[in-house]
Amino acid sequence: MSLRVSILTVSDRSAQGIRPDSAGPVLVSACQERNWNVVETDIVPDEFHQIQSKLIQWCQSGEVDVILTTGGTGFSPRDITPEATLGILDRQAPGLAEAMRLESLKITPYAMLSRSVCGIRGKTIIINLPGSPKAALENFLTVAPVLPHAVHLLQDSPSSEAEHRNLPA
Ligand code: MTE
Repeated sequence: MSLRVSILTVSDRSAQGIRPDSAGPVLVSACQERNWNVVETDIVPDEFHQIQSKLIQWCQSGEVDVILTTGGTGFSPRDITPEATLGILDRQAPGLAEAMRLESLKITPYAMLSRSVCGIRGKTIIINLPGSPKAALENFLTVAPVLPHAVHLLQDSPSSEAEHRNLPA
């Protein structure tokens, strides 16, 4: 299943052009390696309303199955990506965030500092990833295998139930 993915980098410095966006391109490559279609990428500063309006716009477009955000999940005063995301979700998907932290804790104890949230708005799944390219990719690799099935279920396609029963253990 070829997913349609958009990638939002949340970073004051990258939005100002002070620091090049490195996590965004890493995620683009990781999606393209899976033959997923990267619909759009963008960079916004750590501003609540700018994050929310971009997420809402992409969800409303009807062209995006999954939004990956990268950055702003930590403890710095400006890190508000999880709060901005929570404010526009219809339903949370805590298992995705739990799995990312669980797997990431096997790599670094700092994984517990990511406050990432995941969930659903309309027919789009939104996933917060941390900001460093390494952390963004490691977290992405945890959830990527289940995303095609998650999207299929969300689309409520007739074959998704059968697919569900045939999943490997
Ligand atoms: N998860 C993985 N897999 N690998 C990492 O290196 N870094 C952590 C954490 N999650 C990390 C990780 C660190 S150091 C921080 S501060 C948090 O993600 C939040 O990162 P952010 O503020 O860039 O979103």
